[in-house]
Amino acid sequence: MNTIAILKTVSLTKKYSSISARGYAVQDLSFEVNKGEVFGFLGRNGAGKTTTIKMICGLLLPTSGNAYINGCETVDPNSRRNLGYLPEQPYFYEYLTPRETIHFYCKLKGLNVKEREQEWLRLSGLLGLESIADIRLKNFSKGMRQKIGFAIALVGNPDLLILDEPMSGLDPVGRKHIRELIQQQKELGKTIFFSSHVLSDVEQLCDRVGVLSRGKLVATGHIKDVLQQDIRQVEVVFKDVAVSLMPFLKQRGTLLRTWENYVQFQFDTILTANQAIAECIHNGAVVIELTPQKETLEDYFMRMQIIEEQQKKKGEIYYSRVEE
Ligand SMILES: Nc1ncnc2c1ncn2[C@@H]1O[C@H](COP(=O)(O)OP(=O)(O)OP(=O)(O)O)[C@@H](O)[C@H]1O
Ligand SMILES: [Mg+2]
Repeated sequence: MNTIAILKTVSLTKKYSSISARGYAVQDLSFEVNKGEVFGFLGRNGAGKTTTIKMICGLLLPTSGNAYINGCETVDPNSRRNLGYLPEQPYFYEYLTPRETIHFYCKLKGLNVKEREQEWLRLSGLLGLESIADIRLKNFSKGMRQKIGFAIALVGNPDLLILDEPMSGLDPVGRKHIRELIQQQKELGKTIFFSSHVLSDVEQLCDRVGVLSRGKLVATGHIKDVLQQDIRQVEVVFKDVAVSLMPFLKQRGTLLRTWENYVQFQFDTILTANQAIAECIHNGAVVIELTPQKETLEDYFMRMQIIEEQQKKKGEIYYSRVEE
């Protein structure tokens, strides 16, 4: 992968007077997203993700600092020529059909009549909109609306896609579909920057993540660099463990469950797990499954929350913000 920053922010800051005199929605945010990357922008409710995205898309003016798309500052409308944007809550003209909606956005992009139809054919094929082409949007479910929103973001085949919570509110099938669309765009060489709460989707899709907490970037990097990668516990499923071995196992680990002729134990270290496994195998049992437990993004958020609580108690965080 080359390292051209298609998206860059430098000390990007937004202050809303209503948060509090000392509070910032986004503070001193500096990061880069390289061409061809899928970058996940993570943070709890109210962390400042949408505010950042709106400044990048030119919908909000920064209080200070800058954002650039392909080197062009985002206060310049030209920066948006090669940008596709899916808002957190897309609004549609409810009485238009998908075909009319795509034609409308193509027209806004300056495409002529023939190009508009070609673009509709490309996008309806890509997103599977053919069968609903002429149904008014007011009849559509959340999943279908999100597809239309995604199609609008793809109008004009932009190189950079900015998606604000693209999987939010979707069922597992809808989420999978959006995941596949993001993956497909990555394979076409596009750069995708998206915010999300759906941690498993982020883990599956992203080359790098940035974690926002109280308006500040607290971590960036590959997921494995952000998470603590040391193995915390090991879960082992055994089959056919002799009853006489159970006290030995219970001394070394925690019994999680038993079913049919299986038992599942959790051990605190790999060494203990290995000792237990050796003894069990020696006595005729079989290891069916071994799962090392590492930190997930969910654990990471919980860890960050504990750190924030401690900072609050020590008075290191002064301002109150509207966060859940
Ligand atoms: N127009 C506004 N006026 C005042 N404060 C605002 C405004 N918009 C957002 N905020 C505040 O700025 C902070 C960041 O909000 P933002 O919507 O960017 O967070 P978010 O990370 O997108 O949250 P969510 O996950 O809920 O979408 C919050 O404290 C929010 O209450
Ligand atoms: Mg948001």
